[in-house]
Amino acid sequence: MDKLVIQGGRVLNGELRISGAKNAALPILAATLLPDEPVTIRNVPHLHDVTTMIELLGCMGVELTVDEKLSIEVNANSITEFAAPYELVKTMRASILVLGPMLARFGKAHVSFPGGCAIGSRPVDLHLRGLEAMGATIHVEGGYINASVEGRLKGARILMEIVTVGGTENILMAATLADGQTIIENAAREPEVVDLAQFLIAMGAKITGHGTDTIIIDGVERLHSCTYDVMPDRIEAGTYLVAAAATRGKIKLRDACPQYLEAVLQKLQEAGAIITSGADWIELDMEGRRPVAVSLKTSPYPGFPTDMQAQFTAMNAIADGTSLVTETIFENRLIQTHEMNRMGANISIEGNTAIIVGQEHIQGAPVMASDLRASASLVIAGLVAQGETHIHRIYHIDRGYETIEEKLLLLGADIRRLPD
Ligand code: UD1
Repeated sequence: MDKLVIQGGRVLNGELRISGAKNAALPILAATLLPDEPVTIRNVPHLHDVTTMIELLGCMGVELTVDEKLSIEVNANSITEFAAPYELVKTMRASILVLGPMLARFGKAHVSFPGGCAIGSRPVDLHLRGLEAMGATIHVEGGYINASVEGRLKGARILMEIVTVGGTENILMAATLADGQTIIENAAREPEVVDLAQFLIAMGAKITGHGTDTIIIDGVERLHSCTYDVMPDRIEAGTYLVAAAATRGKIKLRDACPQYLEAVLQKLQEAGAIITSGADWIELDMEGRRPVAVSLKTSPYPGFPTDMQAQFTAMNAIADGTSLVTETIFENRLIQTHEMNRMGANISIEGNTAIIVGQEHIQGAPVMASDLRASASLVIAGLVAQGETHIHRIYHIDRGYETIEEKLLLLGADIRRLPD
């Protein structure tokens, strides 16, 4: 296992290209099970979670050809196994996204039940209820979800009790090949759901309303070949912007998507950043100033994303003033604050709110990453801390950030990956 060693105190400055979005690439790869012709997916990020999804499809017998630029051709006609084993699902909960497509195309699926994770219990009851409403029979046995359907799934009206990204995606994918019309109400509006819908449409699916809370899908008999480019990663972009703001720096992101980052850019402006942007670029300039503390509350899109909460908490730890950060999506997603306090931050937790008293300085320390975005926040804390920070268990960060230390080196950070 590796660790990251960061010598803090460098101001980030420079230009970066943003990678394809992990949270769009994963459902899109799962959706390659749906067409009966090969499809090509481009701009796929080079990440552990993507490798896990490729491995999962591979172990089902799906043919995958990956070129050096991570353009992936997938042919699901060769599938022999209709199962997602525990060994893979336990390393990546998003493996559950193969359930809907497998059921819709092949009428059966045997998928390990995803367990809890560091950020909370994360149930999948709404995925299962939605598929049942479409005519699937589902039994949970021996830690596995056994799902089957006689003939095609049937279109249904499905009201999601809470807004769920994965739940909306599973049902959206399943509904493309169902018999009749499916209406998903209280659907997730996240840009990654929209990207998935656009990919499905490129394969011949009939979908309207994606990006709103009501998605309407008219089932078709088959989906066909296409070539599709995954959207840019808004969370990766947001993370580098916050890192630059925390270090009082100036950066320009290329191949980024400012239109999907409104809530984040607004908070960065509140923190004192000068933001300029074009269709596919964003520039942030702190003009050398210390950020001002900003309070925020996470909520489903277009609200402030839970996946950016930890990074803002890190910036607030060294910002001017006191802030309140409230996490409403996941129950245990403020755990990284304990590690930050070991670096001299002053963060206390009350229920689902972190009260952060900004410090002029924090100090480097050995810290442990507990989940993907928590790791990113520790990197930001390490960049602004005085002295050296050693971040252990960084396999979490490789799940979601492509070559993070190389990108930060490009921006002038002092960061190394060493064996732990
Ligand atoms: C996705 C993202 C993750 C992001 C999250 C919220 C991927 C691969 N991951 O995760 O990075 O943090 O959206 O934006 O895209 N819930 C239920 N029952 C269900 C499903 C969800 O109660 O059947 C609850 C969850 O416990 C959570 C909330 O709904 O409290 C939102 O979760 P959800 O949107 O489903 O998150 P994921 O799709 O797992």
